[in-house]
Amino acid sequence: MSGSDNPYQDDRGNKDRSITNPDGVGEIPSKTSGKTSPAEGSPFLIGENMTGGYGKGGPDILHNCTIAVNPGEIAVIVGPNGAGKSTAMKAVFGMLDLREGHVLLDGEDITALSPQDRVAKGMGFVPQNNNIFTSMTVEENLEMGAFIRTDDFSDTMAQVYDLFPILKEKRRQAAGELSGGQRQQVAVGRALMTRPKVLMLDEPTAGVSPIVMDELFDRIIEVARTGLPVLMVEQNARQALEIADKGYVLVQGANAHTGTGKELLADPEVRASFLGG
Ligand SMILES: Nc1ncnc2c1ncn2[C@@H]1O[C@H](COP(=O)(O)OP(=O)(O)O)[C@@H](O)[C@H]1O
Ligand SMILES: [Mg+2]
Repeated sequence: MSGSDNPYQDDRGNKDRSITNPDGVGEIPSKTSGKTSPAEGSPFLIGENMTGGYGKGGPDILHNCTIAVNPGEIAVIVGPNGAGKSTAMKAVFGMLDLREGHVLLDGEDITALSPQDRVAKGMGFVPQNNNIFTSMTVEENLEMGAFIRTDDFSDTMAQVYDLFPILKEKRRQAAGELSGGQRQQVAVGRALMTRPKVLMLDEPTAGVSPIVMDELFDRIIEVARTGLPVLMVEQNARQALEIADKGYVLVQGANAHTGTGKELLADPEVRASFLGG
């Protein structure tokens, strides 16, 4: 996908509020309408000025790091290996005690909440590793995703199968038997089963071919178009920035560059250091 032939570069469609989802919750790629923005000027989800590391006495990995996403947006985090991208995602999801900074979801300070409570608040997180139950079937994985729900989730499952038709075909198969790209679909589908208000993905295209990567990106765009904000880490920096409304380059746990995907792709320093020129 090069910049010029990327159909989503200038007109991704997700600026069209008529297809977005009122509160971010509900129908996965259903095209309902309504308001999308939280209070003007404040992002829907933000990990702000985050400083902290692992364990009680561990060194700080994040240094005043800020990442955020708004309704209808895809925000992408890129940067070298070990930069702290996954750590920043874990911090936003509550898997890390922050020494400084806070996490706000739709204006509410959720810094003190456990990951489980954040799921209940509407966060869907697909971690980088071990993001599916390999010995369970595809459908069981999706059911596990709905664990916090007490209502009927069959509609949501149908929506996930609409989004990822191959999963319907393979719903009785052990998830561990699927290809890398299909496993990532299971992981994303599982997160969607909670009907999240925001979707966080850590390297959703890790280890897949370029074609499968493009397909996954298309599905992610489709999800974002419904109004569901997507905050994702990507190692395919160039391709990811092409579909990003907002991009963050992290280096050594700190924000090195921030801008629209377009701005970062055009930034000579970002190009030279992170995009291979
Ligand atoms: N569970 C952990 N315990 C201690 N240190 C960790 C843990 N996970 C990652 N780190 C360290 O945090 C730093 C950032 O890692 P990570 O966030 O995984 O980077 P990235 O996702 O950008 O590749 C690295 O130095 C890594 O060794
Ligand atoms: Mg990582």
